[in-house]
Amino acid sequence: MILTVTMNPSIDTRYTVDHLIVDDVNRVVPAKTAGGKGLNVSRVLVQLGDDIVATGLLGGHSGAYLGELMDADGITHRFTPIAGESRTCIALLHDGNQTELLESGPVVSAEELEAFVGNYTDLVSDASCVTLSGSLPKGVPADTYARLVAIAAEKNVPVLLDTSGAALDAALDAEVKPTLVKPNLTEINDLLGTSFTPDELSELQAALAADERFADIDWVVVSMGAAGSVAFHGGRVLRAKAPRIECVNATGSGDSTIAGFAHAIAAGADDEEVLRCGNTCGTLNAMDPQTGHLVMDKWDEIHSAVEISEL
Ligand SMILES: Nc1ncnc2c1ncn2[C@@H]1O[C@H](COP(=O)(O)OP(=O)(O)OP(=O)(O)O)[C@@H](O)[C@H]1O
Ligand SMILES: [Mg+2]
Repeated sequence: MILTVTMNPSIDTRYTVDHLIVDDVNRVVPAKTAGGKGLNVSRVLVQLGDDIVATGLLGGHSGAYLGELMDADGITHRFTPIAGESRTCIALLHDGNQTELLESGPVVSAEELEAFVGNYTDLVSDASCVTLSGSLPKGVPADTYARLVAIAAEKNVPVLLDTSGAALDAALDAEVKPTLVKPNLTEINDLLGTSFTPDELSELQAALAADERFADIDWVVVSMGAAGSVAFHGGRVLRAKAPRIECVNATGSGDSTIAGFAHAIAAGADDEEVLRCGNTCGTLNAMDPQTGHLVMDKWDEIHSAVEISEL
């Protein structure tokens, strides 16, 4: 079973209008999905046919509704209940733009977090791989992912971490490292204080090699949107070039990439296939209007079109 963690899930609500009329009425039909990056990962894993359990924190009537949305997507879920209401995030598609309104979500108490860690520890025992995705809600200390990584490592379960800012900093500074991190180019540049482009991968390699926080991480994968990704693994640098496609909606492509990595790692795939599978999922998500959803009937075509070379 693959365990996905979503600490701050949301009812993702998309409204589409041709033109947004400011300071007047706009009539809309909502499209609602169980969101938060870990739930995007979960949806893709269900599409890939994996046995998964989604966990995290879920609260109030919104939390109950999120549970129904997960059921509808075939996602098995074992979330820890909290008192606060889970959040709603709004994406407004208008005039060729995407305007987002993101609630910060509930405040989590220390007792609720400890209940979650207990629940997580039980679930990890049955997991072949764990994914930790997204930001941490208010009240949850920045080193919480580092703690979850250590719990999984104790049971020899690989952990894939996709977060940014203070939560990523804390996980990189910890003694026990995640198996894989997947910052995008902006996130890694923020972390290193650099401004590398996809054409400066040897400079990026040198910067990562000089930074001891990355030394014990088995896979450091930097995703670069339409340019594909570069993986630093086992002393090798593997470049994956994404096939040229018509991009419909690339939101959640990083989450889909994480799903592909988890799928391949849990199946014991070789290095090249891990990278190919992650990139295939990222690209197939970019071809689909929904976030965290792959155009599965293009699997074979895209899977064989991802170009992998060693730098
Ligand atoms: N326009 C595109 N064409 C082809 N492949 C793409 C495109 N955009 C993304 N991908 C694929 O998806 C992967 C992840 O994309 P990206 O680097 O944009 O992730 P991200 O910024 O973490 O996204 P998010 O956080 O929204 O999930 C890329 O490495 C690539 O394989
Ligand atoms: Mg991302």
